[in-house]
Amino acid sequence: MSATFTDRVVHVVAFAGSLRSRSYNRAALRAAAELLPEGMTMEIFDLSPIPVYNEDVEAKGFPAPVEEFKARIAAADALLIATPEYNYSIPGVLKNALDWASRPPGRSPLVGKPVALMGASTGYFGTARAQYHLRQVCVILNMYPLNNPEVFIPAAETKFDPDERLTDERTRESIGRLLAALRTWTIRLRAETGV
Ligand SMILES: Cc1cc2nc3c(=O)[nH]c(=O)nc-3n(C[C@H](O)[C@H](O)[C@H](O)COP(=O)(O)O)c2cc1C
Repeated sequence: MSATFTDRVVHVVAFAGSLRSRSYNRAALRAAAELLPEGMTMEIFDLSPIPVYNEDVEAKGFPAPVEEFKARIAAADALLIATPEYNYSIPGVLKNALDWASRPPGRSPLVGKPVALMGASTGYFGTARAQYHLRQVCVILNMYPLNNPEVFIPAAETKFDPDERLTDERTRESIGRLLAALRTWTIRLRAETGV
C-alpha cells in the first residue's frame, strides 16, 4: 500500500529575520530543531548572503543566494519564521528576503505554503506587533499562516542561557506545540488541495 501524506515526513525550512551572531531568534530556531515532533524534519536557512532587493538586479537574473533560498522554499512542505521586532514591525532583513522570494509575480514558491510564526524580543510584547505585520505580508503572498498557538518570547535575555540555549520550559513547550500544530496544518492543507 502506498504511503499517505499522514505517514509522510513534513519537511520545514526555517529562517530568522536577524543576522546577529548571538541572535535570540536564531537561537529559538535551534531550540525548535531540538523539539521537533516525530514525522518532521527541519533545516535552518541563513538569510545573510541575500543581497538588498533591486529590480535592476532581478532583471539581470536572480543572485545565486536568492535562487538557493527560493529552491529551498519550493522543496519545503512548510516554513517556520522567527522574527525579531524592529520599531514595531519586522526587520528589513526579513522583509527583503520575502520580497526576493515573492518574485517573479505569479511564480513565487511562497504561494500556498503553510507557515508558522514565532519571535523573540527584549521588549514586553515578545514581537506581537511584528508578527501581526508579518501575517499581513502573508496575505499578499497567499501563504497559509497557522493561527494557533502563537509564540511570543518577551524579555528574551531572561529565556536563554549564556550558551544561547533556550532554557525557559514554558517557551520550549509552546514551541513544541507550534511545531506539532504546523505538522497537522500542513497535512490538512495538502489533503484538501490534493498536492
Ligand atoms: C533597530 C531596532 C529596533 C528595535 N525595536 C524593537 C521593538 O519595536 N520592540 C521590541 O520588543 N524590541 C525592539 N528592539 C530590540 C530587539 O527586540 C532586540 O534587539 C532583539 O535581541 C532582536 O532580536 P535578535 O536577538 O534575534 O537579533 C529593537 C532593536 C533594534 C536593533
